[in-house]
Amino acid sequence: MTLTIGVDVGGTKVAGGVVDDAGRVLVQARRDTPADDVGKTRDVIIEVVGELAHGRTIEAVGIGAAGWINAGRSTVLFAPNLAWRDEPLRDYVSAAVDLPVIVENDGNVAAWAEFRHGAARHADDSMVMFTIGTGVGGGIVLGGELVRGANGIAAELGHMLTVPDGHQCGCGRLGCIEQYASGSALVRFARAAARQEPHRATALLDLAGGEVEAITGPMVTAAAKGGDPVSAEAFALVGRWLGTSLADMAQILDPQVLVVGGGVVDAGDLLMGPTRRSFTEALAQRGRLPVADIRPAQLGNTAGVIGAADLARRI
Ligand code: BGC
Ligand code: NA
Ligand code: ZN
Repeated sequence: MTLTIGVDVGGTKVAGGVVDDAGRVLVQARRDTPADDVGKTRDVIIEVVGELAHGRTIEAVGIGAAGWINAGRSTVLFAPNLAWRDEPLRDYVSAAVDLPVIVENDGNVAAWAEFRHGAARHADDSMVMFTIGTGVGGGIVLGGELVRGANGIAAELGHMLTVPDGHQCGCGRLGCIEQYASGSALVRFARAAARQEPHRATALLDLAGGEVEAITGPMVTAAAKGGDPVSAEAFALVGRWLGTSLADMAQILDPQVLVVGGGVVDAGDLLMGPTRRSFTEALAQRGRLPVADIRPAQLGNTAGVIGAADLARRI
């Protein structure tokens, strides 16, 4: 049995784990992501890997990061929602921990985990996954391999143009799907509705102590599950946008499976119902031809760790 380490670097936490060849996470370590401090984030990654590797024989390290990674899987070129700009993460971490390291996009890593060990494990050829978090991540598997593109930045599904001249995106453009189908968009929709129609959002506002600006994603989920209409409508809006992008991907690639991941899938049918309806309506063939199922991700917040560790086996 060989062991590798996977590290998932997100906007709020750095999560790491020692993973075996069956995709089981044996030990975990996590720290908060130092806000807007690239140097400190690097050091936290090194600390997490050091802690996990201590007293164990580790083959390699995989790091999933929320940004555009170069073709050599060594450098974070740009991150719309983090401070990384041309960050040579692989060499820095590899020198510090004395192990081979691979850096991959967080959406790609999560998709790989779901393809190998999660919601798409029964597929042998193809899947497309959207991860709904602060941003919208994506991953594409074709012919059993991750699609990385000529420059390493394929499957940036969050930056598909959805609403011309729409909401400002962290990538610098207006109207990306990330601004309509992310966890941040969910909160924006819910806050706007709670401001406009507070009498319909009493359950949500109670959770937020009466402060619209204090509303968070988990509060919208909890309120929606409890029947708060404004919160349920925020999920329906996210699902409506997400369904159209899933339909685009089905039409471009016709994959075996479509997967939706991220904390919002905890909302179950409140998200998946509107997503599936919008998907079917958006398909040019409108349900007359066979098309992939949309499945919720199964690996939850360990997908990044499992996928990064599995990719590290293939360096
Ligand atoms: C970034 C992607 C990332 C996604 C999810 C997007 O804004 O462009 O690289 O995968 O957010 O973190
Ligand atoms: Na991606
Ligand atoms: Zn964008």
